[in-house]
Amino acid sequence: MIKINENYLKLQASYLFADIARKVAAFQETHPERDVIKLGIGDVTRSLPPACIAAFHAAVDEMAADGTFKGYGPEQGYPFLREAIAKHDFQARGADIQPDEIFISDGSKCDTGNIQEIFALDAKIAIPDPVYPVYLDTNVMAGRTGSFNAGRYDGIAYLDSTAENNFIPALPSEPVDLIYLCFPNNPTGATISHDQLAQWVAYARDTRALILYDAAYEAFIQDESLPRSIYEIEGAREVAIEFRSFSKTAGFTGTRCAFTVVPKACRAFDEQGNSQALHPLWNRRHSTKFNGVSYPVQKAAAAVYSEDGQTQVKGLVAYYLNNAALIRKEIKGLGFECVGGENSPYIWIDGRKDSWAFFDQLLNEAGVVCTPGAGFGACGEGFIRISAFNSFENVQEALARIKTAIG
Ligand code: MLT
Repeated sequence: MIKINENYLKLQASYLFADIARKVAAFQETHPERDVIKLGIGDVTRSLPPACIAAFHAAVDEMAADGTFKGYGPEQGYPFLREAIAKHDFQARGADIQPDEIFISDGSKCDTGNIQEIFALDAKIAIPDPVYPVYLDTNVMAGRTGSFNAGRYDGIAYLDSTAENNFIPALPSEPVDLIYLCFPNNPTGATISHDQLAQWVAYARDTRALILYDAAYEAFIQDESLPRSIYEIEGAREVAIEFRSFSKTAGFTGTRCAFTVVPKACRAFDEQGNSQALHPLWNRRHSTKFNGVSYPVQKAAAAVYSEDGQTQVKGLVAYYLNNAALIRKEIKGLGFECVGGENSPYIWIDGRKDSWAFFDQLLNEAGVVCTPGAGFGACGEGFIRISAFNSFENVQEALARIKTAIG
């Protein structure tokens, strides 16, 4: 008799964003006349930068001629892209990361979800609350949690991120092995300082833990004093894996390209307590289960690092941050407390009521989709997240409608 993986039965309903999409589709079906503005899932709306498009086209032309055609590429990514990333994203900021420590993939959602496979099933997991649901759900699927009780899974060390701690969780109060951190944070938009991040690195070194650092939103950092990479912190190479993406930076949500950095010095431990390098483990996993991102997509991603690409990408980020500034201003004007939106495309709003009820109100009365904070964890209850990824005109219109609905 074939049996299921019963851990899946512990999962809560469906994936958050699938749940929201279903609610929105149902609303549109019953209200076909209503024009819904989506400020929910962080999906970009601006087209790819022209430099990326030109590189993409040129690479497709290469695929059209036998002499330049490419079949399977290296699973870890083409050297031209790994070298550009190492130089521009890390070495230029004093972070010692080499091209062969970078693994190109088709998304940080997959990488942050898959990385847990290389760690022991009895690893104690520390997860912020609120959190991007992928970290938690994939550990539930793997069987690292007990059942769901009163809004939380047994066996997880939750790191509360609340207004009281400025949405930067305190170090764990119990021993943990694997720590998920995300800055600029999804969903709160909070950022972490160099000193605060250094405390986490020191903690991981002292306790032989490992940090999984999701920096998918680093391009939105405007405050030059903030770290963009955990490898800007001394000692992080041994204790941290970092995730980055072209999705939000360069509009690749539909094109798919991201990367994970596993430094050669990064370690975990075997049953006997001997240090084991993680780079060969992730390399083995990646090359066994993944066949590489397509050549034209990697060429398009590499164009982000050209002079024109850099200018265009900064323009995209500035465009969305301008939306974010307007959202902050108008929401504050309505008397709500909010964080984020300054170094992040997300604005985290204290709605002062049940977050799904607020979501329903905005959808029904304003035709605006947000993300209910409770979907990101128990500490998100009472909050909603508004994304700045849409056209300026739509953001203006959404805010005007919100004002009418709840002002
Ligand atoms: C979000 O809205 O939190 C993100 O778009 C989800 C993702 O990047 O997968």
